[in-house]
Amino acid sequence: NEIYFDGLRGVVPSLPMTYGQLEPLAQAAMPPSVLSYVAGGAGNEYTQRANVTAFEEWGLIPRMMVSPTQRDLSVELFGVQLATPLLMAPVGVIGLCTQDGHGDLATARAAARTGVPMIASTLTVDPMEQVAAEFGDTPGFFSLYTPTDREVAESLVHRAETAGFKGIVVTLDTWIPGWRPRDLSAGNFPQLRGHCLANYTSDPVFRSRLAKSPEDDPTAAVMHWAKIFGNPLTWDDLPWLRSITDLPLILKGICHPDDVRRAKDGGVDGIYCSNHGGRQANGGLPALNTLPAVVEAADGLPVLFDSGIRTGADVIKVLALGATAVAIGRPYAYGAALAGTDGIVHVLRSLLAEADLLMAVDGYPAIADLTPDALHRIR
Ligand code: FNR
Repeated sequence: NEIYFDGLRGVVPSLPMTYGQLEPLAQAAMPPSVLSYVAGGAGNEYTQRANVTAFEEWGLIPRMMVSPTQRDLSVELFGVQLATPLLMAPVGVIGLCTQDGHGDLATARAAARTGVPMIASTLTVDPMEQVAAEFGDTPGFFSLYTPTDREVAESLVHRAETAGFKGIVVTLDTWIPGWRPRDLSAGNFPQLRGHCLANYTSDPVFRSRLAKSPEDDPTAAVMHWAKIFGNPLTWDDLPWLRSITDLPLILKGICHPDDVRRAKDGGVDGIYCSNHGGRQANGGLPALNTLPAVVEAADGLPVLFDSGIRTGADVIKVLALGATAVAIGRPYAYGAALAGTDGIVHVLRSLLAEADLLMAVDGYPAIADLTPDALHRIR
């Protein structure tokens, strides 16, 4: 409505209305090393592309004579009431995506303005306490890249609890870097340069491991971080992960139903179905195609989903396939690159407005009405 009424006054939106328009504009505004890191994926990026095109294999079926004048997009997630089912996935270099180099704070402010929670990465420019301080009334989640030093991991999690995060998302698919030719060919590893290590350099346990403070010897701090980054977790580590927090524990990167069952047996609170936006392993199924079996095995446990969501229709399809909530990565990173907090807010509101209108036109009043019956598999 805002946009149509502005249009009547001759005012057109200053920010792009589709992902297709946003992507090149944002990329042109980004420094090359950040661009390569954000845009790139594993191998020849087949899986990254397939994540997006997989959505075209499903079609929504409209229902008439329902005409829901009010739609209810709210969902409950781990006992927290959310206004919408959308979240912002953890993006490690989001801090470097904005012009001012504080993209984590910009994201947290967008969360405060929209009610869309941020899942904060471990790799941030600003420490998690400062990020969480910008959330306003919107709940936030902390995503853990588990270091091999268990005491550092525990310290990060306890700080997240104290800072008020509402759940811990443990990312499982990134204990080793993926084969990313764009970054490899440029020797480009922005995350290794120490810009995004604020959670470590501000951590008392991490600092206690160093001979000199990170302020006095930043290189030694980065080298130590690189040494402990990436814990090759196995299912034997799940009892430990479960034991270090009373917050909801969510495992990210799960795509196989047997892994869902093992996670459930280990007492997790949620499953996060994702292939990391195709950044870690090429040659995989599009994440969307793994979702139905994951939902079935989860058997009522909340399922989050990301990888390839670009439109409001994509959001609706994921929910109809049984996900409890959905997350986006690159779309909001590009919003941040183009216009900081305003850009992120624009991306989130556009996605939500499209999803909401679709529920109106297609006759699905609430998220609970979106079931597999609303979809037809085209191919
Ligand atoms: C990511 N992702 C990610 N995931 C995670 O658990 N911790 C992290 O620090 C990061 N960092 C990160 C950086 C960048 C630049 C991108 C693009 C992605 C993965 C992210 O959470 C999510 O799984 C994907 O981005 C979802 O796919 P789309 O929406 O980008 O297609």
